[in-house]
Amino acid sequence: MFDFRPDESLAPAELHRQLVEAAAALTEGEPDGVANMANVAALLWEFLPDLNWAGFYRVAPAKSGGEELVLGPFVGRPACIRIPFGQGVCGAAAASGETQRVEDVHAFPGHIACDAASRSELVVPVKRDGTVVAVIDLDSPSPARFAEADARGVEALADLLADRI
Ligand code: SME
Repeated sequence: MFDFRPDESLAPAELHRQLVEAAAALTEGEPDGVANMANVAALLWEFLPDLNWAGFYRVAPAKSGGEELVLGPFVGRPACIRIPFGQGVCGAAAASGETQRVEDVHAFPGHIACDAASRSELVVPVKRDGTVVAVIDLDSPSPARFAEADARGVEALADLLADRI
């Protein structure tokens, strides 16, 4: 039905521009956040080479009160379900509201190894009215897979998704 398959020889900035354009088209007018996260996880997987996990953690109620990150739609191996704010790369992004670009996950204090193959990671918070509502998490089996350009591209995607998830 949809064929957004990208040309992987494109420069990263153009690849990211096309990714955001495809995500905008796919989520336009669709109020169901789960459906939109599922399609965007699939798009990330198709557009960005050399990933072993791509998906979302949402800010949701913790079992014991308060809030934490809870696994959302993704592509990749089954992953840890709940991540407290401040723990691991995802929890650091949620707690700080800042993008986390980690060249070597083994050197990141408290990194949570969901898939032992992961070597580098990019986590971008999705903010609505300044509040983190989710994070986009990308893992790669290659060290230092994610450049500044990837961070900027995924931040543009997060901006688009703020009121669509
Ligand atoms: N590595 C992440 C946990 C999520 S998985 O990578 C899917 C972290 O340290 O927060």
